[in-house]
Amino acid sequence: MRLILLGPPGAGKGTQATFIKEAFGIPQISTGDMLRAAVKAGTPLGLAAKKVMDSGQLVSDDIIIGLVQERLKATDCAKGYLFDGFPRTIPQAEAMKAAGVPIDYVLEIDVPDDVTVERLSGRRTHVASGRSYHVKYNPPRVPGKDDVTGEDLVQREDDREETVKKRLAVYHQQTEPLVAYYTQWAAAGDARAPKYRKVDGLGTVEAIRAAVLQALGR
Ligand code: AP5
Ligand code: ZN
Repeated sequence: MRLILLGPPGAGKGTQATFIKEAFGIPQISTGDMLRAAVKAGTPLGLAAKKVMDSGQLVSDDIIIGLVQERLKATDCAKGYLFDGFPRTIPQAEAMKAAGVPIDYVLEIDVPDDVTVERLSGRRTHVASGRSYHVKYNPPRVPGKDDVTGEDLVQREDDREETVKKRLAVYHQQTEPLVAYYTQWAAAGDARAPKYRKVDGLGTVEAIRAAVLQALGR
């Protein structure tokens, strides 16, 4: 299984990615998690990316495409992969197409903007794994602690309300055109085109999990 999870900030991509990777035994490739790991490690990439991420803008296509192409060389990608938060621009999608990176499904999680702000303001994240919780909708067993490791949960820098609004605007402007890009590619009858599926992202985490797995044929 090789798929792309598409959807606005706070749609639940990371949350549902956990279930999908378990169901199919594939790695999750989250460009956001990779960038946050670089920020934490203080690498040159992390230092450059931090300012961009904290402002809600996108990191440059060249950097992101390079990161993903490097990641795809790892042996765990032989079984498949799940892209979370990538591609996010037409040039990123075009780069994958040009490189012949196969994709079976593009799965869009659809959530209206007003829900996003509430979801992201209550989000708590385990930085090392990328696991996310919500203080009200998806609470950890012990408040403030990751269920698996027991380590502290933190609030992401870019989850401040004004940054969330900026991220949403960037999504509509730069990422949403991918919906037309992939649906038109599929409609053109190209055998390499991924199947396009859309699920409603409103509902409980569990209900959306069921809808997502069904959309992927499970
Ligand atoms: P990234 O980390 O990809 O962030 P994002 O796309 O903005 O998405 P989020 O992680 O905020 O949301 P999510 O959909 O994963 O939601 P989650 O499951 O956590 O990117 C961050 C930044 O990195 C970008 O702004 C950019 O600067 C840079 N970047 C990354 N990739 C890039 C790329 N390809 N190109 C350029 N730049 C890039 O859920 C959110 C909250 O809601 C949680 O609290 C969760 O518990 C809760 N929740 C989940 N499901 C439900 C539900 N059904 N009901 C109620 N609450 C729910
Ligand atoms: Zn995420």
